Amino acid sequence: MNEKTEDKLLDLGELREAIKEEYKQVAVDPNQGFHFHTGRPLAVMLGYKEEWLEDIPESAINSAAGTGNPFSLGELKPGERVVDVGCGAGMDSLIASQMVGAAGQVIGVDMTTEMLDKARTSAQEAGVENVEFRQGYGEELPVEDGWADVIISNGVLNLMPDKMKGLSEMARVLKPSGRLQISDIIVQKTVPDSGKKQIDLWTG
Ligand SMILES: C[S@@+](CC[C@H](N)C(=O)[O-])C[C@H]1O[C@@H](n2cnc3c(N)ncnc32)[C@H](O)[C@@H]1O
Repeated sequence: MNEKTEDKLLDLGELREAIKEEYKQVAVDPNQGFHFHTGRPLAVMLGYKEEWLEDIPESAINSAAGTGNPFSLGELKPGERVVDVGCGAGMDSLIASQMVGAAGQVIGVDMTTEMLDKARTSAQEAGVENVEFRQGYGEELPVEDGWADVIISNGVLNLMPDKMKGLSEMARVLKPSGRLQISDIIVQKTVPDSGKKQIDLWTG
């Protein structure tokens, strides 16, 4: 969607606030029930291995709200640098931190304060030192050019109105030899403009 169409269809600030409010609820009250799957049952459904989860604090798992499993595309290698775009409560970032080990580094980026608070608390609880959580937008990643070997992202691009901007930021941050391991939702039919204007359809 280009800027002009996006401007005409919806207010970006209003949309971001609605999405933040939805995911704030997933962070602070994960058991209230949402119209999408969350938490450990979701992780099991998506094929996360028990061994990946056993050292991850429950607080990072219970607010997981992804759409797939970025590690199903391959486990990450020791020493790699990883950016987790839209890291939420940090489950994938913490799994990545175990895979890349002490010689690797992980930066989780999210726009929702309550998700980041949870991710930072979980990293501290797990005693993990190779993960850092930064507040920011996927469309303006707070990461330097060519830093990452791999970008992971789980259920976030579908929430960005300007997907090309999100993807070009991923390309900017990746090394030339870098790779994407992302999971998201693809629609196979054109979404009508009337649908794009409905914020409730975006926040899910
Ligand atoms: C569906 S949740 C997935 C969270 C996490 N990846 C997981 O698998 O549990 C989407 C997350 O993306 C964040 N988010 C949505 N749009 C974003 C954007 N444009 N920039 C940064 N974060 C965004 C939300 O705050 C939320 O934490």
